[in-house]
Amino acid sequence: MSETPPMTMIPDETAYAEAVQLAVDASAAYYSDGTSTLDDDSYDRLVRGIEAYEADHPEQVLPTSPTGKVAGGAVVGDVPHTVPMLSLDNVFGAEQLVSWAASLERRLGRPVEAWSVEAKLDGLAVSARYRRGRLVQLVTRGDGVAGEDVSHNIGTIVGLPDRLAEPVTVELRGEVMMTAAQFADACDKRQAHDGTTFANPRSAAAGTLRTKDRPYVCELTFFGYGALPMDESELAARLRDLPHSQIMEWVSGQGVQTTAVTPVAGVLVSTLEEVQARVEEIAAARAELEFGIDGIVIKCDLAADQALAGFSSRAPRWAVAYKLPATEKITKLLAVEWNTGRTGIIAPRAVLEPVELDGSVVTYATLHNAADIARRGLMLGDSVTVYKAGDVIPRVEAPVVHLRTGDERPIPIPEVCPSCGDAIDSSQERWRCVRGRACRAIASIEYAAGRDQLDIEGLAVNRIKQLLDVGFITDFADLFFLTRDQLLSLERMGETSTDNLLAAFERAKGQPLSRVFCALGVRGTGRSMSRRIARHFGTMDAIRAATAEAIQEVEGIGPEKAPVVVAELIEVAPLIDKLIAAGVNMTEPGVEARDVTADEVSDLPLAGMSVVVTGAMSGSLEALSRNEMNELIERAGGKASSSVSAKTALVVAGEKAGSKRTKAESLGVRIATPEEFAELVASFL
Ligand code: IVH
Repeated sequence: MSETPPMTMIPDETAYAEAVQLAVDASAAYYSDGTSTLDDDSYDRLVRGIEAYEADHPEQVLPTSPTGKVAGGAVVGDVPHTVPMLSLDNVFGAEQLVSWAASLERRLGRPVEAWSVEAKLDGLAVSARYRRGRLVQLVTRGDGVAGEDVSHNIGTIVGLPDRLAEPVTVELRGEVMMTAAQFADACDKRQAHDGTTFANPRSAAAGTLRTKDRPYVCELTFFGYGALPMDESELAARLRDLPHSQIMEWVSGQGVQTTAVTPVAGVLVSTLEEVQARVEEIAAARAELEFGIDGIVIKCDLAADQALAGFSSRAPRWAVAYKLPATEKITKLLAVEWNTGRTGIIAPRAVLEPVELDGSVVTYATLHNAADIARRGLMLGDSVTVYKAGDVIPRVEAPVVHLRTGDERPIPIPEVCPSCGDAIDSSQERWRCVRGRACRAIASIEYAAGRDQLDIEGLAVNRIKQLLDVGFITDFADLFFLTRDQLLSLERMGETSTDNLLAAFERAKGQPLSRVFCALGVRGTGRSMSRRIARHFGTMDAIRAATAEAIQEVEGIGPEKAPVVVAELIEVAPLIDKLIAAGVNMTEPGVEARDVTADEVSDLPLAGMSVVVTGAMSGSLEALSRNEMNELIERAGGKASSSVSAKTALVVAGEKAGSKRTKAESLGVRIATPEEFAELVASFL
């Protein structure tokens, strides 16, 4: 872990004034829509340089200087906070942590007995005001003294209930953010709406929180990290004296989400060695998280220690943020590659000067489409901010215009499909080869034949290519019409392989609808979405007859995705017709079209249960892939999920189950061995 990052050197008063302006602009952009022309590291370096210059030249300090101000003095709102919302001081490594703790203990005149170590969530601080147990107002941090009313978001934030378990008047403080899935969904929605996307989850959350009249709704997530009782009740009095860790237990008991349900739950420890050990555990868990963290917060747990330590104008003295390396950095855009995907979509990809982000080296990043490149004024050779954290695919955010040298060149835009050389349909923001799916027939057929779709064993890519080259097939439906003689006529194809392949085609015809549907490669529908669609409608006929409204009844399909699915289904209609003619199964076993009654569903052994599978399966489940396990769970009425939370009803834990099992244990979630689970769902195996 790095120690103090270097600071920007400021030689004279002019440079100082420029530095202050740059920091003020960057901070204003960061706190208004979450975009910034500086990455976090550069901003921290700059502010440190400003601080050093001001220490040497106190007479030159500008009133606009960001030093000593919450949020760099960037934002003001009109709702006064009852208690100021402060920042945190930072440390950048073990050594600084030790000296911070030493100075705190000197101030207290005694050692700190209990430390709370928790993740520093990378979102936006909000204060959620509950009156007699009801959520009445939501306020951003603003300048720390007053914030903006963002109550219009109430009801769209996962983890922040409208009502608490008890009728208390309390302010909950916490972070609003977007998980990787919420971010992907928000980007899809914005892309469908105006062709643009969000730069990163944090800026997406900032924009979403502050925008009132968006025609689409993006879901947010809340994690609480503090509570301030606001009435004179007995409960309030008791809460005030509780240690921080117990306040947080109370908060989650009220139905509010805290990091206790994540792999980076807060822990209570008594020595700095233990603090450091937990810091390292949280840092190691970071890359796997579904949400962004930018550090670890270390707090004195006891109310008495906190009261004695008090506050500076900017931050509490009883807590500190241990910063982790940034997930956003500036690097050079070296080239842009254009690739045609399986469905014919032509997408640009940035080639970057390699940069380390969140534990991995990033050399490629997503760019969205030609219009987006033009809108953002990106050029080859530009310095660009790049974001990568956890599950989020690396992405180029924006050019850093003030770092331009004049040597930047326009990005070449293709005039023909980079895959087949045919024309490009650029009538939509997402460009497409005019040949559509046919352009990348090999890739689409390979996908359709893949293990999680039709699972056609023995159909290698070179065989697909050979079949396309000789003109025996043009899409994967044609596979089912291949004759023995045709196959035998191919080079390097013997009797046995031919018979094996024909048998594999025969087996593939019997795959459940979910897999047949997935094989179609309808945009926006991967494996789990295909399963949901198949279970919802039961037959291909029902899916095809569905309107956009009907499709929206499937969980996870919103008003943006539904029309895309309908349009795609029209496009692949000839393919579906061919599959039907070939005798491919078009129904989902266990689902009677749309007339499954609620009773029938609730009779299923896993009805309404969220189930997570972890570790190696054994016994009768040994041969099942994860996808097949998930299919089994859903056939039995459950919902397959990949992460354990308080909502998980059952964890199937085999040999070598790791952190998911531990977490299930700590949350008291029911755990079953593969054998016990097999018994439970025996009739669906
Ligand atoms: S405690 C008095 N705990 O970090 C301020 N803050 O850089 C006490 N943050 O404004 C804040 N995770 O928005 C606390 N576990 C956590 C946090 C956390 C993220 C944010 C918070 C604060 C900012 C300071």
